[in-house]
This record gives sequence, C-alpha cells and structure tokens, in this order.
Amino acid sequence: MSTGQLVVLDHVVAVLTGALWLAAGAVAAAGRTRVAAGLAAGGVLAVAGRLVLVAVLADRGWWFVQEKVLLGLPLLVVTVAAAAALTWRSLLRGGPLSPGAVTALFAAGYAALAGFVVTYVGGYPLTWSVTLLAVAGVGGAVLLTAQVMAPADDTAPADETTTVGMLSRRRLLGIAAAGAGAAGVGLAFVRAPSIDAGGGVAAADPSGHGTPVTDLRGATTPAAGGTVRPYTVTARTATVALTSGHEVDAWTFDGRLPGPPLTAVQGDLVEVRLRNEDIDDGVTIHWHGYDVACGEDGAPGTTQDVVSRGAEFGYRFRADQAGTFWYHTHQVSHTGVRRGLYGTLVVTPRDAEPADVDLVLPVHTYDGVVAIGDDDGVLEEAAEPGASVRLRLLNTDSEPHRFGLAGTAFRLAAVDGRDVHEPGEVSERALRLPAGGRYDLVFTMPSGPVALTVDGEVRLRLGGGDGDPAPGDWPELDPLHYGAPAEVPFTLDTRFDRHFSMVLDRGAAMVDGRPAFAQTVNGRGHPSIPEQVVAEGDLVRFTVVNRSLETHPWHLHGHGVLVLARDGRAATGSPLWVDTFDVRPGEVWDVAFAADNPGVWMNHCHNLPHADQGMMLQLRYDGVTGLAGGHGHARH
Ligand code: C2O
Ligand code: CU
Repeated sequence: MSTGQLVVLDHVVAVLTGALWLAAGAVAAAGRTRVAAGLAAGGVLAVAGRLVLVAVLADRGWWFVQEKVLLGLPLLVVTVAAAAALTWRSLLRGGPLSPGAVTALFAAGYAALAGFVVTYVGGYPLTWSVTLLAVAGVGGAVLLTAQVMAPADDTAPADETTTVGMLSRRRLLGIAAAGAGAAGVGLAFVRAPSIDAGGGVAAADPSGHGTPVTDLRGATTPAAGGTVRPYTVTARTATVALTSGHEVDAWTFDGRLPGPPLTAVQGDLVEVRLRNEDIDDGVTIHWHGYDVACGEDGAPGTTQDVVSRGAEFGYRFRADQAGTFWYHTHQVSHTGVRRGLYGTLVVTPRDAEPADVDLVLPVHTYDGVVAIGDDDGVLEEAAEPGASVRLRLLNTDSEPHRFGLAGTAFRLAAVDGRDVHEPGEVSERALRLPAGGRYDLVFTMPSGPVALTVDGEVRLRLGGGDGDPAPGDWPELDPLHYGAPAEVPFTLDTRFDRHFSMVLDRGAAMVDGRPAFAQTVNGRGHPSIPEQVVAEGDLVRFTVVNRSLETHPWHLHGHGVLVLARDGRAATGSPLWVDTFDVRPGEVWDVAFAADNPGVWMNHCHNLPHADQGMMLQLRYDGVTGLAGGHGHARH
C-alpha cells in the first residue's frame, strides 16, 4: 500500500475508533450494557488496528507518525486501558455501569478524536503547545462528561467519602486541564526561530550588512557571437478570445494569451523592459527555471519592488541555458498567472540543427477551459513523414497534466529545459507533467498522423490522414528511471554541507499575519517559516516529505536540482535535473544542488494557491540581504 493510502486509512480508522468508544459510552449511559460491550470490543480492535497501521507508517518515515507515536497513541492507550479496567466486569456481566465507568468509555473516545485532530490540524513537528492543548481538551471533555453523568439528585444515597473524593478529583482535573490549556495557548505565540542553517553554520549577524540582492544583476554583454535581444512587454488587462470564441477576462502581457513568446540563441543577451499599464495589483516577471542573477529574479518584495501601475522595470540576463522555459508574474501569482500573465521562453543551442517542426505548447486552463496557447480546440500542424519533430510541452497551470503521444514512438529529450542523457525510445507511455514543469518530446514523423492528448483528449494533430491514432490508458513513464546514467556531482552518499527537511502538510498556522487552515512547511506558513541559510559553495540537500493528501509541485528559484531519490530509492536513469518536482501524497523526495548562485531565493509550492495559503519560504545566502521592507504591497 502506498504511504498516501496508509495515511488516509489511518485517518479513517482514527475517526472510527473515536466513534466506537463514544457510542459505547452513550449506549452504556442509556443502560444498554450488552450493546456497549459489543461497541467497546470493536473499539479495542480498532485501537489494535491503529497500532499496526502506525507501525507500518513509521517504517515509511518518522515524519508520518511522530505526533501519533508521541501523543495520539499514548493518550489513546492510557484511556482505553483505564476504560477497560473500570468497565470489563460490568460489561461482561451485563450489569449497569457506574457514572465513572461510563465516563471512562467516553474518555477513550475523546482521546481517539483528539489524536485525529492533532494529526489533522497540528501535524509535524509535534509542539508542546499542541500537546498541552490536546491533553487539556481531553481532560476538559472528561470533566464535563463526569459532571453530566454524576447523579443529579443530591439527596440520593451516596457514600460521603467517595463523593468528596470524586469532587476533589474533579476539581484537580479541572485545574490541571485549565492550566495545560492556558500553557498550550501561550506557547502557540512563541516565535519560531527565524533561521534554519540546515546543520551548517549561519553567519553571526543574519540581518546585518551584506550585498543587497538588488546589486546582483545579470551580465551586460552577450557571449562571443551572440546578439542582444531587446523586448518590451506591457502588462495590461484585456478581453481575449480563445480560438473557440470563448472570451477570457484576462490579465495579459501585450494584450495576448499567452504573452509574447521570447526566444534567444544560447549566449545572446536578453533584455526585457516590463511596463505595467493597468494591472492594479502590480506585476513582475519571474524567469521560471532560468538561473538568472538574483536581482533579475522578479520576486516582489525580495529581489525587487513590485512594478505598480504606470511603472516599469528592466530585466537583463545572458541566455546561458538552452531549453524550454517560461516566464510569469510573481505578484499575486495565484491570480495573475491563472488569468494570463505568463509566456514562453525558448533558448536554442547555438551549434545544433533545429528540428524541422519545433512546436512550443504551453497548456493553460482559463475559466475551466483547457487551451494550448490560445487554442482551446484541436491544434492542426503540418509535418512531412521523415521530418524531425520537437514538441515542447509546458504546464503553466497549478495542477499536473497527463500527456499521451499516439501514433509514434518518441524520446523524452529534455525535462525542465535540461537534456536527458541518452533518452531511450518509448511508446505507449503517458507523461505526467508537474505544474510549472516542461517536457521536450522528439521523434521522426511517421507516415501516418500523430496525436497529442492532454488529460485524455486529443489537443494536437500532426500530419494528415484520417482519424486520430488511438490513445490508450498507458502506464506512466517515470523520469527517475529513464535514460542512461552519467557522471553526477553528488549522490545520496555525498557529505552535504546543509541538509534541509521540508515536511508539507495542511494545518492550523498563521499566514501573512492571519490564522488559517494553511498549507504548511514544518507546521508553519509564510512568512513564519524559518529562512534557509546557505553559504556560497555549499552542497545542499533537500528532503521534501508530503504528509498531506494533495500533490505539491516543489520549486526552488535560481537553481536546478538533481533528483537523488524518491521514497528512499535512488534514481537510476539519466541524471535528472529539474526545477519543479511533484511530491505526491506520502512521497519523500531527496534532491540536491550546489549553492552557486548567491541571492535570496523563493522556495515554494508551484500550486500557486498553495503558495498563497502559506507554502512558501526563502533560501538565503550568507552575506546577501533581501530588499529591506519590500515596498509597494508586494505579495507573491
Ligand atoms: Cu514559477 Cu516562484 O515560480
Ligand atoms: Cu502545494
């Protein structure tokens, strides 16, 4: 069973456990002891089931079970043991249960539910605040139940000493629960450390003086043989019709969807003047996957001020990387990119023959309508048999897309603009492209037609002929085990200078100063997630763990990362360099990079609504300072 499935199953069994014990308590209170005995027996089985599940999950990683092992299960086992000790005689005999015994059944239910709530809203890492609040919650609920269960009639014959004993015990429990609750609330306001040095040493004065990121600008001249590529791009609102006539109330670059395709030959100098005509929220351009100097990175409030209405900003960088990339606004990007503030950036190698047919195919969803470029129907392209074809697939959405290529065998020549080493020919394989990611497919045009499907629908037809070649329900190609191995600068066995763990989950956390059911990293939301600090020259490893039930396309700015392993199993194919990798529910990815591009870099989930809901942090080089304050209502 996959870790994601185990996580879901454990949620289900946890809730069931709580329901069984609460039901046992309620039924016992109503005097139906035999039914209560049955429910309690079910409850014991459920607890046993959880112990097994958590043991299996623990094997997948401590991140998945920490709060269960340290808090949820101990609380559950203690209360269930107490309930069993107090009730088993009466349950077996079928006689009525004392109020205390009924309360004990309820207590087991509260503990089970508290464990579930801790997992669901607290998550990893377990904090003292959450621990105390959970204990206080269970204690308070037990106290209330005891109060309700106590004989209402004061004149009823009762053993004096027991009553007195019960009362003082209850008062004690009440004081303890209130104290734990208050401490838990108080601890919730303790500030997180602002820095994570990943096991390395951070500079003595993190906020001190250093190179401002705004001084880290791109090259000023092209490489030998290159030229200058000047572009002016204007951000403005526009109503744009897709090919079907469907009108999009868009935010655009140059009034078109997508923005103008930017192209260069490797070594050229790209100069882009960005103007904001009427985007009230402001705009920037981030060069996704392109390892520009940090001052060109387009992260508002971090590397530059947001470009507000009427303002402009000049970007400049040398096109050193050849491949398929894209650009997009980074200001309120979950809205801006969705509405159209993006475009493609394709850099071709200076010395290589271009393909006969070279298509740039950005897939984007407008108001629920999937389009390639601005075509929301089926693109028709000519290709002669024998022609070399390159399809550049880009996913500019926040969710993954599944592609299929029917009618031909093909090679996955590049991932995220980085060439795959000796890509083997494959056919009848589906390709799952993470949000923000790119795949370049190459093949020689066969005599018959070729069809590209997106999420099962034909979106592109190449070559003539009647009818589409039938796409099938094909297995996914796994890029971790594709292509031929080659020399890599680091492996799982490398001694890394920094190792950062990022555990992704949902949970209660502050996001931009407001409490939220956030998308969290290590239990925190932006901007309270500690900044990762590295030094230039460091070898850095990320372990990214997904505890949640959603996919998180992880994206680090300014660096390609080498995939080392997924779920502890090393990648075996071509060295896989990516800028965006999908961490699916329950997965653990290990990736690494050399810290060779100084700056302050965003490091976030590229499901852009997730980033907006907190799943975003920064990686900063020692000696570099971000934009102080970040003027102009910067919001990523
Ligand atoms: Cu396309 Cu911050 O990213
Ligand atoms: Cu996400």
